[in-house]
Amino acid sequence: MSHDLPAQYCPGERTLADLVLMADGVIAPVFEPPGGYVVLDAGGVTATQLELVDPEGVPVARVEMTGNDGTHVWGPVTLLARPEHGAFRHLHLGPDRLDEQYRGWPTVPVSGPLTSTDLATIRALNGSVVLLVLCDPGDVRTVTTVGLVRATQAAAELLGNAVVVAVTVVSRGDPAADRLFRERVVTAYAPGQVHRVAGKGELPPAIAEVVEFDRPPPHRRGLVLFLTGLSGSGKSTLARALHDRLLEQGRRTVTSLDGDSVRRTLSAGLTFSRRDREVNISRIGWVAAEISRHGGVAICSPIAPFEQTRRQVREMVAEAGGAFFLVHVATSLEECEQRDRKGLYAKARRGEIPDFTGISSPYEEPPDPDVRVDTAGRTIEEAAETVLEALESAGFLERVTPASALRKQV
Ligand code: ADX
Repeated sequence: MSHDLPAQYCPGERTLADLVLMADGVIAPVFEPPGGYVVLDAGGVTATQLELVDPEGVPVARVEMTGNDGTHVWGPVTLLARPEHGAFRHLHLGPDRLDEQYRGWPTVPVSGPLTSTDLATIRALNGSVVLLVLCDPGDVRTVTTVGLVRATQAAAELLGNAVVVAVTVVSRGDPAADRLFRERVVTAYAPGQVHRVAGKGELPPAIAEVVEFDRPPPHRRGLVLFLTGLSGSGKSTLARALHDRLLEQGRRTVTSLDGDSVRRTLSAGLTFSRRDREVNISRIGWVAAEISRHGGVAICSPIAPFEQTRRQVREMVAEAGGAFFLVHVATSLEECEQRDRKGLYAKARRGEIPDFTGISSPYEEPPDPDVRVDTAGRTIEEAAETVLEALESAGFLERVTPASALRKQV
């Protein structure tokens, strides 16, 4: 029967990193019940055997499920391959290879860009060192993991006698437990004596440059401008105005993901059931997050009636290193219904359109939008100005006149 076949599941970064640590003998090959440190989130899985695959679809482990509470799965693990994926994978040497190649080398754990003071401390060791980068893809506050490895490579170049290796250790959100776990990982991987650096002081220019490229200041960082509101609230018109204003400012690339146009393309065929709306919004969120990863601006303007889905988009964007700015286009239902430009409210009232937002399907007001605008009684230019001002005061927009833009470019 189909439910007896092992189900395939592609876990997140934390679990893939844990599988590497299992393959390297740092932690026991078992997923613990909820509450443990090494847990497997696999919501919706019902099979008794689970095959874990990496993002490229290569099977990396099998889990003999002894428990499943609908969100977590636990049980012993059989490793099929050491998961290897992503940039700098060749630097993720296991403890055996590290020991083989660099036995006895002093090792400096690196969890942030190295400062000039750090480099002085390392130089005082008077010899070759291993810079062991502890990558946490969940923590992009100062640098991404790729940025951290690149910043450490820049440090190695400045030092002249250092090699860079990496290991992924993802935080579980419990600082004390994380500290102990990281200690354990460092002890297992370091081929020689461990020396710590404080991470205090200024970054040398070569390292600062790498960090700046990786995490530009907010006004140059990827941005998802997410407009939510009822049908007819003015989202599309406002989105179009913002799109044009941002383009006119120059220095940013802007992509529009409007509700109606997405439904004709990316989400063609989806209905307005709760489930399909969630799928629609997560598709928009996925694309927008990718745009923000590359430093672009994505302006999304779907109804997005559910708070939980909007939160998911916020998280996807944060993971991609972008900023998320929520605009509630708070035009009242009465006003939207009175406008009824597409005649949809009248049809919905007559029962001709099922699940119509505001009439026969809920709209959950966002409790904490970054800005709220009502388009009733004001021009679109005024509404756009309110949003641009909010963006500017949050640091996401640097307004320039064409001449000063030119001056800054040269
Ligand atoms: S969402 O809920 O999934 O975010 P989305 O923004 O993509 O909705 O699509 C909304 C647009 O689809 C509306 O502006 C309206 O023109 C049209 N539409 C058709 N049926 C419905 C419905 N049942 N509820 C809301 N909008 C609908």
